Amino acid sequence: MELLLTNDGSHTLHHPTLNETYHSKFGAIEESKYVFLEKGLGDYLNNLTNYGQPTISILEIGYGTGLNALLFANYAIGNNIKLHYTGIDILPLSEAILTQLNYSEIIPLHTTDLFQQLNLAAWNAKTIVNDYFEINKIQADILEFDSSIYLESFDLILMDAFAPDKQPDMWQNKLYKDFFYLCKPGGVLVTYTAKGTVKRGLMEAGFLVEKLPGPPMKRHMLRATKPLQNETF
Ligand SMILES: C[S@@+](CC[C@H](N)C(=O)[O-])C[C@H]1O[C@@H](n2cnc3c(N)ncnc32)[C@H](O)[C@@H]1O
Repeated sequence: MELLLTNDGSHTLHHPTLNETYHSKFGAIEESKYVFLEKGLGDYLNNLTNYGQPTISILEIGYGTGLNALLFANYAIGNNIKLHYTGIDILPLSEAILTQLNYSEIIPLHTTDLFQQLNLAAWNAKTIVNDYFEINKIQADILEFDSSIYLESFDLILMDAFAPDKQPDMWQNKLYKDFFYLCKPGGVLVTYTAKGTVKRGLMEAGFLVEKLPGPPMKRHMLRATKPLQNETF
């Protein structure tokens, strides 16, 4: 695994077999912040009609470096929001790789060792990181994952698998149906790709899909919402 610098100065990793990077080369942090934090969590919170202090449940497909988890944990602390974060990955990265990533130097963190805390959180166990953030990193193959205990459990799904042309198995219609089943009514899935087959697959699974402007140098991204009963856009 090779460490690369992206255009915003943050690191990504290059996967040698797939010849693919973990994030956009135009800016790893910028992409994650825009696609997942702003267009995912930020907009979801803005649209909440219940202004209490709910706990938001998040599922990430492809935990990878933990950059999304770090951004979400930091946001939770800064905004006094409780997040339960579940991240699935088939192949967790080693500590030797994770400690080389420069995210803690670039992101203004509310807790300086937050990235280290996430990295040290055990796999296949729930870890309460602080008053605002609980994480459950699950080592599993999403293609064989028994999701039946998670029926309508998640407010937000972050679909951050490798690109559809690199790993087509991760973008099959059966998975979109699983994601639909995993989302709460009104729940949202966001992903960085706007590929037509992905859009159509998500729609066929029952989601209402929007094509949104993309992060730097990418034209579009997708946001898919599971309708509340009888809801249409
Ligand atoms: C694009 S990278 C994820 C980037 C990550 N979200 C980050 O911020 O670093 C895709 C991830 O999907 C994981 N992955 C690949 N196949 C998988 C599978 N069948 N089930 C679960 N995870 C898988 C890879 O190990 C990799 O970490």
